[in-house]
Amino acid sequence: MPTAHPSGWAHADGALRANRPGGPHWLREPRDPDALVPSLWPRTATKDDGVLSVGGVPLPELVREHGSPAYVLDEADFRARASAFRDAFASYDVYYAGKAFLCTTVVRWLAEEGLSLDVCSGGELAVAERAGFPMERVGFHGNNKTVAELERAVGLGVGRVIVDSFHEIERLAELTRPLVEEGSRGPARGPVGVMVRVTAGVEAHTHEYIATAHEDQKFGFSIASGDALEAVRRVHAAPGLELLGLHSHIGSQIFDTSGFEVAARRVLALHATVREAIGVEMPEIDLGGGFGIAYTTQDDPSEPAQLASEVTSIVEHECRALGITVPRLSIEPGRAIVGPAMCTVYEVGTVKEVALDGGVVRTYVSVDGGMSDNIRTALYDADYSATIASRPSGAEPALSRVVGKHCEAGDIVVKDEFLPGDVRPGDLVAVPGTGAYCRSMASNYNHALRPPVIGVRDGKTYTVLRRETEADLFATDVGVS
Ligand SMILES: Cc1ncc(COP(=O)(O)O)c(C=O)c1O
Repeated sequence: MPTAHPSGWAHADGALRANRPGGPHWLREPRDPDALVPSLWPRTATKDDGVLSVGGVPLPELVREHGSPAYVLDEADFRARASAFRDAFASYDVYYAGKAFLCTTVVRWLAEEGLSLDVCSGGELAVAERAGFPMERVGFHGNNKTVAELERAVGLGVGRVIVDSFHEIERLAELTRPLVEEGSRGPARGPVGVMVRVTAGVEAHTHEYIATAHEDQKFGFSIASGDALEAVRRVHAAPGLELLGLHSHIGSQIFDTSGFEVAARRVLALHATVREAIGVEMPEIDLGGGFGIAYTTQDDPSEPAQLASEVTSIVEHECRALGITVPRLSIEPGRAIVGPAMCTVYEVGTVKEVALDGGVVRTYVSVDGGMSDNIRTALYDADYSATIASRPSGAEPALSRVVGKHCEAGDIVVKDEFLPGDVRPGDLVAVPGTGAYCRSMASNYNHALRPPVIGVRDGKTYTVLRRETEADLFATDVGVS
């Protein structure tokens, strides 16, 4: 099974030269290191005379107004990807996975685009509440929800709680008993909808998946051990809980639906067993998220319509084989909606040429952010791309590494990229595909101030999340008043 291949524009004649020593096997030297690779960028991104614009806003202008570094969020792109999932999966419920990136503006867009929302903490639930999101369209995840979080979710009337342990089922059953015994408590009425998160023994990533009988991980109830069936029994037996169905999430950055096929087979087999053994026809199945995006030219993701047709035919085929009706389906894409809708713009501070073995030179380009605004490179060994955003260059491509300003050798933003050989202090560098798991995983390491998220649309900018200030840092440091 291939794990990497050049794709999209990279197939174009003459776009690429050979690989170069020092770079990874998939990275080809471009004829023009200044050119934009459209599949990596927000849909409104253009490059004119070397200047990158998103949403009709030239990034040098954006930086003059809002400073650097900044996350740039293309509203039109976000809405287009959200509605593409909604339309392609029209017979499903599409839950946007808030862990990818969440703020009140995005929650408002989701409400307007008709998506549902998956949250996995009290904090994410608070954002949904603050933005006035319809609570019946919220799914509440988490392997260790506190009693206070469960009480809040029940009180707000969330549409479903995805239970993840026997302890949680016990707590939730206890908490919800008065809802049915006494008729009402707070805004919630009647039983609370529950899905049982199961582990199907499939771990999927990019083009590969591993299918095992057991899973050594903290999430879910194992189907193979019988825990999942027991969890379903307990939820069904609790008067305050309404058993909605099974939930399975198999991994991240997946391009190939074969992992979903194995998982769907196992989850649907359990669904059929529940009907036989307990006599309950559960109405729903959630297949989770994990649909991949293009971070570099080696990634070649499918469009939502293709994913929908493949996933649906897998489920229909399995249901036919089991002789059961197709349950209502839901999915939880996060990365595939917000990932490509954002890029990060940085300013170059220093440039250093480092000689590697064999006469290879790597250009280290230090920018004014780093692992505090994008931890994925350090945490997951993730690959990213980059381009100069502020000027044209006719210089020869140089094998480059974009690094941050943190006190850590692993503080790398883009491991390998060809940037023009004349990259210099003051240049703006933009990194695409930073919408998912970057701002949401950002930290204050080295007391860095987290960058703002700047929305762009029709040639205008607006602040979605403002830049942090030192006052924000000191708000929690109560040592000296
Ligand atoms: C249960 C669940 N659903 C959905 C997602 C979203 O995944 P992605 O952003 O890769 O689509 C995740 C990610 O970890 C998850 O754990």
